[in-house]
Amino acid sequence: MTSADLVVAGCRELVTCAGPLPRRGPALREIGLVENGWVASSAGRIVYAGDEAGFRKAVEPGPGARVIDARGLVALPGFVDAHTHLPFAGDRAREFGLRVQGWTYQQLAERGMGILTTVKATRAAGRDDLVALSLARLDRMLLHGTTTVEAKSGYGLNLEDEAKQLEALRQAAARHPVDIVPTFMGAHEVPPEYRDKREDYVRLLIDEIVPEIGRRGLAEFFDVFCEPGVFSIEETRRLVGAARAAGFEIKVHADEFVSQGGAELAAAAGAVSAEHLIAITDEGIARLAASGTAAILLPGVSFFLMMAKRAPARKLIEAGAAVALASDFNPGSSHIFSMPFVLQLGVFTLGLTVEEAINACTGNAAYAIRRHGSVGSLEPGKKMDLLLCDVPDHVSLAYEAGRNPVRTVIKNGTVVVEDGRRAAAR
Ligand code: NIG
Ligand code: FE
Repeated sequence: MTSADLVVAGCRELVTCAGPLPRRGPALREIGLVENGWVASSAGRIVYAGDEAGFRKAVEPGPGARVIDARGLVALPGFVDAHTHLPFAGDRAREFGLRVQGWTYQQLAERGMGILTTVKATRAAGRDDLVALSLARLDRMLLHGTTTVEAKSGYGLNLEDEAKQLEALRQAAARHPVDIVPTFMGAHEVPPEYRDKREDYVRLLIDEIVPEIGRRGLAEFFDVFCEPGVFSIEETRRLVGAARAAGFEIKVHADEFVSQGGAELAAAAGAVSAEHLIAITDEGIARLAASGTAAILLPGVSFFLMMAKRAPARKLIEAGAAVALASDFNPGSSHIFSMPFVLQLGVFTLGLTVEEAINACTGNAAYAIRRHGSVGSLEPGKKMDLLLCDVPDHVSLAYEAGRNPVRTVIKNGTVVVEDGRRAAAR
């Protein structure tokens, strides 16, 4: 018998998402569903996930074990939000007001607004301000079931302010239950002081900032906005080479609005992920499908920018790409922190089935940030990161559109959200 200190008992539906990752093609529809499901953990790690009979045979709750009655609830793995721009200061509500009146995201950027508005605010903020802002956002995310989040810098655009963003993430991570996976994105935009000498900024990144952030060990991934008018394919290639040399794994913001072959480059470079992909070409789809590079789709962007054009999710899935969904939480193009909403957008706007969307927000999302060994499914050995949702079945996670169904969040075996509120420590 295995001992357990936490038991989630009698879930109406237990969605384990168990199985090899990443999931591609038809496998993306398999969610490992168990009716009357039981999950047990010990010291924050899952020791059992399955049916009641198996539980009774295999698990012995230890003295003082906590047993959570999950009758009538749906359990699933904690959401993994694989793409966010978490540690920024300021907001762009006023610019959003302009967009509502018909301005486009690109028109704002051309007039020095957009990303640069947030660069100004983030440079002016202290590290402690960024810690506080990040903690407040992490709380909201956690209430919506996010238990692991990738977070990008990219609003400092110089060594000092990029490092400040990444240090803020490290401090926030030490004080918050959500696991943070940091990404250095100094190549998010060309800063205003380099507008007329962009090559100097690319060189500064390559020669100084990328190696120094690497030396300081402040981030695991490097990301670059590969988009006409931001960083060209050739610049992206050079930046990716420098990032690899500095020890980073690679992510690429690719083909968000116009394709210049970003997805192809990401696949050829062995990137962990290519992200956005609204404008990906058929060639790009084929290259991603044949590679280990995950395709992270961000349906919040088309929604939030009110664009008719959407990432070709069905084509990507049918070609065999490792498709994940994420929020892209940021102040300009997707001010969305709710993974239940992202899951719903995946279904309603990208044509995913509910089961595909669940896997894309959990197991495949974990794969897209290289955390699939520890999170993304409910299987023995993985972290006890589990959500209890008050919906009658998993399909209702999407069917009850616009709703946050998350009632309980367990992170590393600790109940951190109870009855839809942050739980007091026990
Ligand atoms: O993922 N594409 C570039 N970066 C963000 C937008 C950032 C912003 O508008 O502040 C994105 O869409
Ligand atoms: Fe982004």
